Amino acid sequence: MPLEPTPVLAVRGLDVRLGGNLILDGVDVTLAAGAVTALLGGNGSGKTTLLRAVLGLAPHQAGTVEWFGQPQDKFRGWPRLGYVPQKAAISLHATTLAEVVHTGTLAYRHGAVRGLTTLAHRRRDRAVVAAALDAVGLLDQAKELFIHLSGGQQQRALLARALAQDPAVLVLDEPLAGVDLAHQAAIHDALAGFKAQGGSVLVVLHEVVSLAELVDHAVVLRGGRVAYSGPLAGAPDASHGHEHEPPAKAAGVMTGMEPQWTS
Ligand SMILES: Nc1ncnc2c1ncn2[C@@H]1O[C@H](COP(=O)(O)OP(=O)(O)O)[C@@H](O)[C@H]1O
Ligand SMILES: [Mg+2]
Repeated sequence: MPLEPTPVLAVRGLDVRLGGNLILDGVDVTLAAGAVTALLGGNGSGKTTLLRAVLGLAPHQAGTVEWFGQPQDKFRGWPRLGYVPQKAAISLHATTLAEVVHTGTLAYRHGAVRGLTTLAHRRRDRAVVAAALDAVGLLDQAKELFIHLSGGQQQRALLARALAQDPAVLVLDEPLAGVDLAHQAAIHDALAGFKAQGGSVLVVLHEVVSLAELVDHAVVLRGGRVAYSGPLAGAPDASHGHEHEPPAKAAGVMTGMEPQWTS
């Protein structure tokens, strides 16, 4: 029997306790290499906490997290993980969009492009920033202040920043929040391009429709537990608590209906 390739991320039996409450209870999640795993579930089901825990930003009390087959505390590949948090936790009142995205290029500075002169670095960085902005449809806004962008544009800018980091993995918390439909298509295309180059994506989604075609595996959280793990087409609609919805109805996910994953 052929060996299964090592997953990019393997989470087993994860417990996370915050403020005395068990927020995640025995959660298992796998992200296969080159795949997109979508994390769905109602408000407060623990999606953001799970992302934070796998990134080591929230401590866990039980279970294991392995990145590329390495235990989390031994893993040294953090610069290859691009994280876009749910809300821009950064105050950027005097920073242009291009500068914000530029900070993403710092992650790979040491090592990956060693040997380049400072001038070559700057040229390379400018090209990387432009490509990342272009990928999310924001190249024309590069000189604008970040603070002047709409919420949806800021969301796309933060994705561009993660792309500029040249990551192997993207960890995205509701990247479509506040993004209008036309630009959801831009995000779809940027992620499709990333995936086509072998990138892996763990993404929390509220509305899954615009990215449904990219999703290889869906995990639905409910009350901090995995309520479903399997193909997106079979996932229950988390908004109505229909955990045992037959697949025929749930297949509406794939037909352009707008499922709401929050309650
Ligand atoms: N730092 C914290 N301390 C205590 N409770 C928290 C903390 N962060 C999140 N929670 C609680 O954990 C639950 C899950 O939150 P979260 O992971 O943000 O859910 P989701 O992203 O699915 O909406 C919520 O009930 C929330 O109030
Ligand atoms: Mg959240």
